Amino acid sequence: MNQDYIKPDNWSIIEEGFDAERVKSSESLFSIGNGAMGQRANFEEHYTGETFQGSYIAGIYYPDKTKVGWWKNGYPEYFAKVLNAPNWIGIDIEINGENFDLNACTKVSNFRRELNMKEGWYHRSFEATLKNGTEIKGNIRRFLCLNLDEAGVINYEITPLNKEATIIYKPYVDAGVTNEDANWEEKFWEPLEVKHDKNSAFVTARTFKTHFIATTFMHNTILLNGQNISINPESVDSNKEKIQFKYAVNVAQNATSSIQKIGGYTVSMNHENTQTAAEKVIESAVSIGYNQLLKEQIDAWSKIWEMSDITIEGDVRAQQGIRFNIFQLNQTYLGKDSRLNIGPKGFTGEKYGGSTYWDTEAYCIPFYMATKDQQVARNLLTYRYNQLDKAIENAQKNLGFKNGAALYPMVTMNGEECHNEWEITHEEIHRNGAIAFAIFNYHRYTGDYSYIPEKGLEVLIAIARFWHQRASFSTHKNQYMILGVTGPNEYENNVNNNFYTNYIAKWCIDYTHEQVQKVASEYPADHKRIIEKVNLSNFELQEWKEVSDNMYFPYSEELDIYLQQDGFLDKDLVPVKDLDKSQRPINQKWSWDRVLRSPYIKQADTLQGFYFFEDHFTKEQLEKHFDFYEPFTVHESSLSPCVHSIQAAALDKMDMAYTFYLRTSRLDLDDYNKEVEEGCHITSMAGTWMSIVEGFGGMRVKNDTLHFNPRIPKEWNGYSFKINFRNQILKVAVHQNETKFVLEGDHEIKVVVNGKEVLVEPNNLVTV
Ligand code: BGC
Repeated sequence: MNQDYIKPDNWSIIEEGFDAERVKSSESLFSIGNGAMGQRANFEEHYTGETFQGSYIAGIYYPDKTKVGWWKNGYPEYFAKVLNAPNWIGIDIEINGENFDLNACTKVSNFRRELNMKEGWYHRSFEATLKNGTEIKGNIRRFLCLNLDEAGVINYEITPLNKEATIIYKPYVDAGVTNEDANWEEKFWEPLEVKHDKNSAFVTARTFKTHFIATTFMHNTILLNGQNISINPESVDSNKEKIQFKYAVNVAQNATSSIQKIGGYTVSMNHENTQTAAEKVIESAVSIGYNQLLKEQIDAWSKIWEMSDITIEGDVRAQQGIRFNIFQLNQTYLGKDSRLNIGPKGFTGEKYGGSTYWDTEAYCIPFYMATKDQQVARNLLTYRYNQLDKAIENAQKNLGFKNGAALYPMVTMNGEECHNEWEITHEEIHRNGAIAFAIFNYHRYTGDYSYIPEKGLEVLIAIARFWHQRASFSTHKNQYMILGVTGPNEYENNVNNNFYTNYIAKWCIDYTHEQVQKVASEYPADHKRIIEKVNLSNFELQEWKEVSDNMYFPYSEELDIYLQQDGFLDKDLVPVKDLDKSQRPINQKWSWDRVLRSPYIKQADTLQGFYFFEDHFTKEQLEKHFDFYEPFTVHESSLSPCVHSIQAAALDKMDMAYTFYLRTSRLDLDDYNKEVEEGCHITSMAGTWMSIVEGFGGMRVKNDTLHFNPRIPKEWNGYSFKINFRNQILKVAVHQNETKFVLEGDHEIKVVVNGKEVLVEPNNLVTV
């Protein structure tokens, strides 16, 4: 554990005490979102200490012109940036003539932040002494409405403690914002119009190049001791991109004044006229009122928790960890809009630019399949189907593939590749495999085959074509190779025959082959339509098979394990435990060549293959590979510890499984990788969910049947989770000596627990 300032609590994330050094980390950890927008926990008032300002709108991005030292052919022209959107939370505050700034106060005490995950709000309180001697108490609550998802609300209260005070609230909306990671230090927003009307103000701006229009708005109400004192702004300052109101209130000692600010965005993705739409959002929010908005927020979150909560008894840190992960996932993506996807940093930071990585298919889909309606996962699959043409273009335009082969982008916002490091963009081709695997996984879990004849098969064929063309024949080995790749372990570049990549390539071809046959016999009309569209012949199918049947996998006879890539054993195999702690994380301490030469594995790679294709291998094989690779794994990708936790549990290495569970679930809370100030690791949070449900719960779907192999860490008294399995809700509660199942549904299901069949009838508790 690297940082331990977050107080353990079952339902809240809590920080106590003000420490300027922690502000950026806390801004990430206390982020809020509602699927449509989100923001870091920046202070509303002016702050001169170190801060990383961030507010983001789902789907709104900027194609920032690529900047590299040495241009390589095939680089995409831009890197898509998640855009720091105009600021609507800002409220400058003047108290008895001094600008209030926590960084400039002579004393700050009782500083506390709470992110209440159960109810979906963020709260901050403190006492502070200004340089002019005024002592104040601050109490601020903020939330982004789940129901009215274009609006957020702030209630900012100030109580002067030692004398009366003249408080001037200066709320503003400002489109003059920048991204920290702008390649050319340019602004991404072009201001179009600034307007105001009584207590409301609107700034409309358009993104350069992509031309998204957003109206950022605010509406303010001033209260004294809880009573609305409805004043109009005393003055209005504005320029072409910012508008600021001024409200002055005289507040007696120990009386409380507050400003309630409603703000948010209406965007051209959803409205023809964003200004009129903003006026309507304000009208609705004002008519509902702050208290009722808060109540609706609590109700809406309670519905989410009703389905997705995981309880853990007897271990507060573990409980807080899983709830933080589930909360952040739901803040990021709710599945309401099929144009959106799940960015690795969600709405908590700029890193990783575009929104869609292989993370979605490899890690997130299981969580969304099991905790939401199956349509949500189907939408995520459809997102890729809708981008198939661009993936085909991507493979053909620069990379030389033909005949409808598709290479999906490593990073994308709209289907175009927008990542520009050759070793990732051009070499991390395994992402194609995860996209095919998700189609298989969706069918395996939901039983809904219709997706494959409707859409999935076209994606599979294009991916199989890619692998067929990407493999090359070695006359020396008389087998097919996949040369020059980066596997999931990004600490190896340009390697030959990465086991994971070769394995998933072979699987993709075989699986596609089977689906072509199945669709031919069961959905002949779809088969005819697709085959004609993509022009697939039996001869081509045979050519694919030739590659998949003769795929080469690097293997050591001596150790009886598959090698991560050719030559892995030639490395200086010093395990991580013998590496001096001062050298970690290696990606922050070492030069890149040193990282590449080392045997250290950033994230599950060969083991990732064993995770996807567990049933292709024996338990003994899994154990051998786990025991070999785990000692070299540094888990410097957030996506790694969850896989290791699941596998350690399957191998009954429960202490390890528990340690990895804490690492994945508290990765950000405890800042294991020393980077949380950049934002939280959202996509790996779905891996945390898997490490309970699939790891400890041992859940698998085999032949349309749910299997469980429940285990429980000795630190816990019990845990429980719910899954939506084929439109029935199954609740599973595991204790040290028993597992209980309750089914909310209308027809019985058969589950297999520790190898034995158990019948679960609706609303009838079954104890095993
Ligand atoms: C990981 C990738 C992942 C990306 C975004 C990287 O650090 O190595 O596998 O796709 O982060 O989460």
